[in-house]
Amino acid sequence: MTLQECLAKGELELKASPHPERARRDAEALLIHVLRRNRASMLAHRAEELQPDYIDRFNALLARRSAGEPMQYIFGEAEFYGLAFRVTPDVLIPRPETEHLVEKVIELTAPLPQPRIVDVGTGSGAIAIALAHCLPVAQITAIDISAAALAIAEENAERNKVGIRFLCSDLLDAVVGESFDMVVANPPYIAASERNSLTIEVRDHEPALALFAGEDGLSIYRRLVPAACAALAPGGYVALEIGYGQADAIQAFLDGSHFKNIEFTADLQGLPRVASARRS
Ligand SMILES: C[S@@+](CC[C@H](N)C(=O)[O-])C[C@H]1O[C@@H](n2cnc3c(N)ncnc32)[C@H](O)[C@@H]1O
Repeated sequence: MTLQECLAKGELELKASPHPERARRDAEALLIHVLRRNRASMLAHRAEELQPDYIDRFNALLARRSAGEPMQYIFGEAEFYGLAFRVTPDVLIPRPETEHLVEKVIELTAPLPQPRIVDVGTGSGAIAIALAHCLPVAQITAIDISAAALAIAEENAERNKVGIRFLCSDLLDAVVGESFDMVVANPPYIAASERNSLTIEVRDHEPALALFAGEDGLSIYRRLVPAACAALAPGGYVALEIGYGQADAIQAFLDGSHFKNIEFTADLQGLPRVASARRS
C-alpha cells in the first residue's frame, strides 16, 4: 500500500467517525506521527510503498481515532499557553479558553512581590505550570484529588523546568491553616444531566472526575468558594473558570462568602468565563 492509498483509506474511515469534518487533516496527522516525517516530505513521497509494520501502526491509530479518542491522547501531547504538556486519559486536555483564567491570575498577582498561589484541581498541571513559567517568583502549590493526574502534572512540571509543590487532596483540605494570595481553579462544572449532550471525545474519553460536578454542575464551587475564603489572606483573590449559564450562581456563592470586587471576564465568544473576586 502506498502513502497515498493509506491516506485515502484513513480519510474514508474517519469520514464515518464522530468527527468527519476533520477526516483528511486527522488522517494526515496520524500518518505523519507514524512515519515521523514532516507533511511536505510525506506528500512529496505519496507514491512510496509503506512497510507492513507502519501500515499496522497506522491502522491501530485510525481505529482509536474512529472510536472518538482525542488526537491529544493518541499523541500523548497537548499545547497550553505556548507550553507542551504530556496528556493521558487520567487528565483533562487543557482547553484554550482556560488561558483567560491564567491571564486573570497574572493580572491580579503580578504586582505582588512573591505571590502564594494555589491551583485546585490541577489535572495536567496546565494552569500551575503556565503561572510558574510567567511568574517565576511566585510560590505555587497544585492540588488534585486524583493521584494519577498528579503524577502527570509532576512530570509536566519537570519537563517545563518549573518548581511547584504538588499535593493530593480533596479541594483545600491538605493546606488548612496555610495562607494564600490567590486561589485559582478550573474545577469540574458539568451537570450530570448534561452527560448525553457532550461530544463522544469528551464523554467517552476524558476523566469523569474532571468533568462532572453533581446534578447541577455546581457541587464543587459550592464547597470551594467558602474553602477558598478561609485559605486566603485578607485582600487575597479567587479566580475560577465557570461554565455556560453559571455566572449568577457563582455570584451568589461569592457574595455569600463575603467576597468583594466580584468580576466576570468574557471569553472570545463574549460569554462570562472567569469569575474573580477579592477577600474582604
Ligand atoms: C476540569 S479539570 C481541570 C484540569 C486543569 N486544571 C485544566 O484546567 O486543564 C478538574 C480537575 O479537578 C480535579 N478534581 C475533581 N474533584 C476534585 C476535588 N474534590 N479536589 C481536588 N481536585 C479535584 C480533577 O481530578 C481534575 O483534574
